[in-house]
This record gives sequence, C-alpha cells and structure tokens, in this order.
Amino acid sequence: MSEPVVLGIESTCDETAAGVVCGGELLSSVVASSMEMHARYGGVIPEIASRAHAEAFVPVVSKALQEAGMELSGVDAVAVSAGPGLAGCLAVGVSGAKALAYAIGKPLYGVNHVIGHIAVTQLQFGAFPENALALIVSGGHTSLLRVRDVATAVDVIGTTLDDAAGECFDKIARLLGFPYPGGPIVDQHAQKGDPKALRVPKALTTGRSAREHPYDFSFSGVKTAVARWIEQRRMKGLDVPIDDVCAALADSVADVLSEKAMAACRQFGSPALIVGGGFSANSQLCAALAKKGKRDGVEVRVPRASLCTDNGAMIAMLGSNLVQSGVEPSGLDFSIDPSMPMNRIVMR
Ligand code: KG4
Ligand code: ZN
Repeated sequence: MSEPVVLGIESTCDETAAGVVCGGELLSSVVASSMEMHARYGGVIPEIASRAHAEAFVPVVSKALQEAGMELSGVDAVAVSAGPGLAGCLAVGVSGAKALAYAIGKPLYGVNHVIGHIAVTQLQFGAFPENALALIVSGGHTSLLRVRDVATAVDVIGTTLDDAAGECFDKIARLLGFPYPGGPIVDQHAQKGDPKALRVPKALTTGRSAREHPYDFSFSGVKTAVARWIEQRRMKGLDVPIDDVCAALADSVADVLSEKAMAACRQFGSPALIVGGGFSANSQLCAALAKKGKRDGVEVRVPRASLCTDNGAMIAMLGSNLVQSGVEPSGLDFSIDPSMPMNRIVMR
C-alpha cells in the first residue's frame, strides 16, 4: 500500500477532532472545542470535557469523512490518541475509534499525542530531514525530542521538571485577571511592554543545574518570581504595569526555550528544529527561534496555527507514517495511557 488513507481521532483534552490524510496529503480536519464550557472555571474540567467528547465524536468524524469526500469504508487504517491526556477523555476517543475499526475490519493504531505534534509538520513542510530535533510546547508539555524516525525511534532529550510553558503563562494570566486560557493574551500585552522592567530568573541555564540539566526546563521559578512581584506591587498600592510584566515573562520563557533548543541542535548536529503544540503560536518564541535559527544555521519549522493546536490531522499523519513503515497495529484490546511516555510511539 503506497498511499494509505488514514482517519485520525483526537480527544486528549478539550478538543474532539478528526482528520483524514492520504499519504502525506491532508484531505480534511475538523475540530470541536469544549473550551467555552471550561473558561468560567479557569481550567479544563475533565468530567465536562469527557461528556463533550461523547457528544461530538460521531458528528466530528462524519464531517471529517464528508469533507474528505469519502465513506468510512474508504479508510485503510484508523489512528487515535491513546495518551498522554485526561483518562476520561482518552477513553471516549479510543472506544469510539475501536468501534469504527472493528466495524470496517481495518487496522487500528493507538498513538502518542505528543509525537503527533511532530508528525503533523510533514503536512506543511514535507518529509523530515535526517536527525531532526523537535521542541514540543503546549499547555501540558514542554519537551525536546530527537526524531531518528517518527514511526519507530524518538528519544527524549529534555523535558520540563515542573510547569509546562503554556501552564506558566496561563497561571500568570489568571493572576492578572485574564480569561482562561490566558497565554495568547499575555502574548499580546508582551508585544507592548519592556522585558527589562523587572528581573526574572532563567532556570537551569547557568552553573551546576545547567550542567546537570542541559536540555531540561523549569518554569515554576519564573512563575513564582513574577507572581511575587505582582503581589508586592499590589500590597504597596502601586499599579501593576501589565505590558511590562507580560514582556518580562515572555522574554524569559522564549529565551530559555530557544537557547536550549539551539544548543541541542548543535550537540546533535541537527539541521532542523520541528516546533509543535499550542504554545508555538507565541510571538516571542517564534521571533527568538527565527533569530537564533538564522544565527546557528538551523531551519526552524513552525507549522501554521491550525496544525499547531490539537487536531485530528496530526494523529492521522502519524498513523500514515506507521502504516508506511510497516509497524504492527495496536489491535483492539489496548488500553489508554494517561501518562504515556514520550518515547513510546504506539500502544501494544
Ligand atoms: O497544544 P495546546 O493547544 O493544548 C494542550 O495540549 O495543552 O496548547 C494550549 C496552550 C495554552 O496553555 C495556551 O495558553 C497556550 O498554549 N498558548 C499560548 C499562545 N497560544 C496558545 N501561550 C502563549 N502565547 C500564545 N500566543
Ligand atoms: Zn497537544
């Protein structure tokens, strides 16, 4: 089979999504989000998200097939996010995908959502260059990965020891009174502020901690420093310069992410850096990566926003890679894995 048609299904968090890919070509991508239902709670409520997946599953899959101009029987394989993610949410997507694969008698792959964020870049930029590195940044993950083969061999080089970059932005945004998720609003304010107005730490970038954790991240220190600074200003009855606070936070996070990613490219001799996850829409990060990529001769591949945020096409594309590499399907009796390790690509 040279150009398999793969249906990909995604339900790890608040998006119910389905996409259809033929080989490396995107045929359709449909996303329904339950974010509006969570906004008033200031975070995703798993129970509400699971119910929303149960409601949206069939309509979203039907629409994705319709937009791809095909029936379910035209699909050669089904891929579904099996983890990492919220258990109840994963269970809805995986159960639905199993039923579909069983009904049409086609192979099913339970795949790693994070590796999907890497795979999806092929839809925009084509095949991976050899020895690419990937920086995955979202609300839940911040990791540096080495992509020897997206279907069979991905190694974790570094990861966050505490908060993810998006999570850190969302927490400061909440303190500033922005609606959830506040990351994009922090981004907008940061564009107007002075990043030097307050000093914030850049964790694991100097001294012994940097030597011990060259490619790991830690964002809880910057979050605490910014939060304390805001609280002290408020206690003294002083104004909080929102633009400056956002700029200092964004500058620190973008600088650490981009510097560590480029250092890893140097160490591993990687010609390209693949970027994925919702936080890759961040303008300060994109600017820092573009500048340092140029400086170091590294091609930076940041996909368009609709491919960065959670979607079904990323899962379909990874499924397509698995089919084309001859990887054995997961079968119909695999479980979900809410904390699926990043070097596991497919469930057994
Ligand atoms: O990958 P994603 O859509 O969902 C997860 O799997 O987490 O990422 C969402 C995260 C949120 O934390 C959101 O605040 C953050 O990405 N985000 C941003 C921007 N756009 C999305 N953070 C900063 N600047 C942005 N422009
Ligand atoms: Zn994601």
